[in-house]
Amino acid sequence: MSVLKVCIVASEMMPYAKTGGLADVTGALGRELAGRGHELRAFVPYYDSIRAQALQIEAVPQVQAVPVEIGALRLSFSLLAHRTATPGLTVYFVDCPKLYSRGTLYTRDPDEHVRFILFTRAVIEACQRLKFAPDVFHCNDWHTAFLPLYLKSVYAWDRLFAGARSVLTIHNIGYQGEFSAARVGDLGLGASQTLLHQDDLRAGRINPLKMGILFADALTTVSPTYAVEIRTTELGMGMQSALAVRADSFTGILNGVDYEQWDPRVDPYLSNHFHLADLRGKMRNKRRLIERCGLQVGTATPLLAMVTRLAEQKGIDLLFESLPALLVERPLALTVLGSGDARYVRFFEELAMRFAGRVAFRQGYDEPMAHLIEAGSDIFLMPSRYEPCGLNQMYSLRYGTVPIVRKTGGLADSVRHFDPASGQGTGVVFQHYDAPAVRWALNTALDWYADQRLWRRIMRNAMAQDFSWKRQVLEYEHLYRSLHSPASVTQR
Ligand code: ADP
Ligand code: GLC
Repeated sequence: MSVLKVCIVASEMMPYAKTGGLADVTGALGRELAGRGHELRAFVPYYDSIRAQALQIEAVPQVQAVPVEIGALRLSFSLLAHRTATPGLTVYFVDCPKLYSRGTLYTRDPDEHVRFILFTRAVIEACQRLKFAPDVFHCNDWHTAFLPLYLKSVYAWDRLFAGARSVLTIHNIGYQGEFSAARVGDLGLGASQTLLHQDDLRAGRINPLKMGILFADALTTVSPTYAVEIRTTELGMGMQSALAVRADSFTGILNGVDYEQWDPRVDPYLSNHFHLADLRGKMRNKRRLIERCGLQVGTATPLLAMVTRLAEQKGIDLLFESLPALLVERPLALTVLGSGDARYVRFFEELAMRFAGRVAFRQGYDEPMAHLIEAGSDIFLMPSRYEPCGLNQMYSLRYGTVPIVRKTGGLADSVRHFDPASGQGTGVVFQHYDAPAVRWALNTALDWYADQRLWRRIMRNAMAQDFSWKRQVLEYEHLYRSLHSPASVTQR
């Protein structure tokens, strides 16, 4: 099989920059593809948080101070290269301090679209100077969604890209990067401006994600169920018509898990490892977690956990009534790690005050703590309103931390409701997005926990699941190759 040249373009990538699952996915996908012998080059903005990591990086001589005009702005960028420990994988950072030294990966600044237009164009300009002709540009989310359109317009003249195909993966359709049509000049499309969505322009807006949906050669999202859901008015967030146009080129590929990072046998953040046949390490992690969180409960008390962005998507509204009621009614402890919207922060802060010693809330982002929580808790709660894939439920399965999930998106594709009669199933799955349903789910989990023989059975089922990237990566490889098959080329 021939080697593929793949260019991954993303706003986050582990281990350099992360706010959520996107980083886990792009990091693992790059490594796995390179591990299969492909030539991988990944591009990420050089945020100040990456600069602070003092990595071993080199300036790329042929890509220095490259000028790019964004509207009236004259910007320039330089390229830095990080040769990773994985043979075949090079990570490039696009350096433009004016845009990427803002303290956070994403901003609410009025030039947010400019930050990612520059990034997208820089990737193409860099490939030109590196004389790198990818077989596939794999773009991710709205930040990089203009790349397919650029390839088919402003850069269409360059024969270097004659064989290049583009894939856009939608990790979350709730983020579309919309900006005002008054800024259309920032795109630098010239006469190709006619390719933009004309109804949107008339309505005064430009939607990067929609343009990616319309122009990418192939579209994917991160679970088969979400691929169906976002074609509906209920969950399509306005993109359902654009997706319908591209139905033949759109698939759902479930994310994998990086088991080098997220497996209790080898987890680099844990001092107590454990596995299916010997769970003593899990109990030690639980003890440690209880201590670290300042909880005043014994190890026999069921410990419920969440690690999450505190965003509406995550279904925290459902917990406003049900969690306090449950904490009054039943013995359990809760630990939550997350950051995001103020109203959810307030909810968990108040809960931690009211149930001091039984509820711990840590606001912020803390990678080692996220691992300890996965390892030391009994039950992991993800009541998401929608969830494109979700990674924590898959991590939880591997750590024997039984997930409670709502039946949506990737949660529906990765957790099966346990059936005590047959002994089959891996977690608690509830359907309706309402408080009674989540209360039922929590009570069911606690009832099962009370029967430790039954609970061990669920844990064992969960820990035996395999969501490895090793398998999922083949689906991407197959997709990339299909874009170069004779049938797909003549269709173009
Ligand atoms: P999303 O990408 O929507 O946030 P995922 O379940 O796909 O949801 O991925 C979330 C990832 O981010 C997981 O690796 C999780 O452990 C991590 N994460 C989320 N919030 C935090 C936090 N506050 N501290 C540490 N890790 C976090
Ligand atoms: C998004 C989604 C999440 C998914 C992740 C990685 O952030 O919200 O469900 O797992 O991307 O694809």
